[in-house]
Amino acid sequence: MRLYKKEGNVVEILSFPIENVEKGDYLLIEDGEAGKGLIVQVIDVQFANVPGVLEELLRSLPDGGEFITGEDIDPLEIAPHITYLQDARLLICKIRATVEDNGEKLSPSSSWLPSRSRSVIRKLPISTLLKLAKVEGRFPIIIGSTKESLLTIDASALDGKLSIITGKKGTGKSHLSKLLITSLINHGATVVVFDMNGEYVGLGLTSDGKWNAYHNKVHALTPGQNFKVALKNVNLNIILDILIHALHLPGTSAREFRRIWHFLKEKGNLTLQELGEAIRNWHCNQNVKDALYSRYYAMINTGFFTDNPSDAGLLDESLLKAREEGGAIVINLRNTSAIDKQVVVEYVLGKLVELLTSWRLKAVFLFAEEAHLYLRETYWDDIVTRMRHFGIFTTFITNQPDSIKESIYRQADNIFLFNFTNESDLEVVSRAVRVDSDTVKSIARDLPPQYCLVLGTAVKDFPIVVRVRALDLKTMGETRLFFSGNN
Ligand SMILES: Nc1ncnc2c1ncn2[C@@H]1O[C@H](COP(=O)(O)OP(=O)(O)OP(=O)(O)O)[C@@H](O)[C@H]1O
Ligand SMILES: [Mg+2]
Repeated sequence: MRLYKKEGNVVEILSFPIENVEKGDYLLIEDGEAGKGLIVQVIDVQFANVPGVLEELLRSLPDGGEFITGEDIDPLEIAPHITYLQDARLLICKIRATVEDNGEKLSPSSSWLPSRSRSVIRKLPISTLLKLAKVEGRFPIIIGSTKESLLTIDASALDGKLSIITGKKGTGKSHLSKLLITSLINHGATVVVFDMNGEYVGLGLTSDGKWNAYHNKVHALTPGQNFKVALKNVNLNIILDILIHALHLPGTSAREFRRIWHFLKEKGNLTLQELGEAIRNWHCNQNVKDALYSRYYAMINTGFFTDNPSDAGLLDESLLKAREEGGAIVINLRNTSAIDKQVVVEYVLGKLVELLTSWRLKAVFLFAEEAHLYLRETYWDDIVTRMRHFGIFTTFITNQPDSIKESIYRQADNIFLFNFTNESDLEVVSRAVRVDSDTVKSIARDLPPQYCLVLGTAVKDFPIVVRVRALDLKTMGETRLFFSGNN
């Protein structure tokens, strides 16, 4: 390989097919005399435009179907060299870092230029790169395999961070998030999952339905079934958030509700039935009363609130259990209506903030699939700013990248990117600040299913393509098919 050109942070390198370089590979351009080297990543492989090659290719075309008879005379034996040149490749590479002190120190600078005549270019094995960049740490999570070694990231790269898993349908996003969740549990972390399709409830089972190591650590909560809350245990602020944000109660009515709540609380009578009675008998404007009544019925209809204390408290219980030994609380929203989803999510987030501010919980990793379906508008910014300070570290999972606001992409510390073929989807993701858009567009377009491009803190900003490893977990919530199992 030979260094050909450098412009900004793009380097062009000439190579031959025999060197077998592919998109995503890392190369080291070593300049022995300068004692430094450039680490570059191949983001595109093109044919080299060697002068005369076009002419040669045209000559070798059969002309108009007429066969030319005769013998090829090649006295200087240059034909093999010409075919060799025709296959020459141009590798378009991005500079990722500079190595100094004989491979001891990495710095992100790209301000120097290696010598074109002296420098030696060779492939940089991912394992060497990972070691150089110190990607692995005390809390390893094995993501899968790269071309020649395993990719192991550190759980601390998710700690205090915002991550996004995105890619088109069926590429393996939920699978990767299950891998992250189980690995976090192994390290003793508390995880909460908003499960849209009921596909995480099987985390505690192997593929043939037996209990696995996580069985006691996965708590599946289905709102209205095993997950209910007693009104008297709910903080007024949480109820108000539910009423205002999920059920759109106007401000004046909310003030009246606050009075009713205090009145019932003083009487020690905070039950659903008493609440209904109190609204009926309350002296206030009829519009306010109607507004309160309709929300009261919406609350009853969720089936999520109860007066029976033995039904309630499972969320607190499982969270506190998870705090001790690590565990995942899966909020199964599969059969919950759109409004009820918002009520439940509002409650769970409110409850988490309550437990975190009182230090009964240290921190929580939140996994949210298709969050635009249940997360209210103002929560998005909250999650990256306020929630992070409370200790809620979110991973968003989506196959519609434009459902996540641009500001969230900008704040994201890690992006796990699966295949996207659609130009506009790629455009959205490539706007993320931590990644240059050429890399994203060029590599993500060619990723096969189950392969993912890891970007950000987890890989110390060296984008790495990895084949996500398999898991022995029961898959649930699969797409129901008509033509399956009949053959
Ligand atoms: N790395 C992997 N190894 C083995 N099987 C995998 C892997 N990744 C995904 N799968 C399997 O492929 C199927 C699709 O994966 P998954 O449900 O994670 O895709 P998805 O991107 O979440 O799809 P959707 O957009 O529909 O939610 C699942 O049956 C899953 O078990
Ligand atoms: Mg999925």
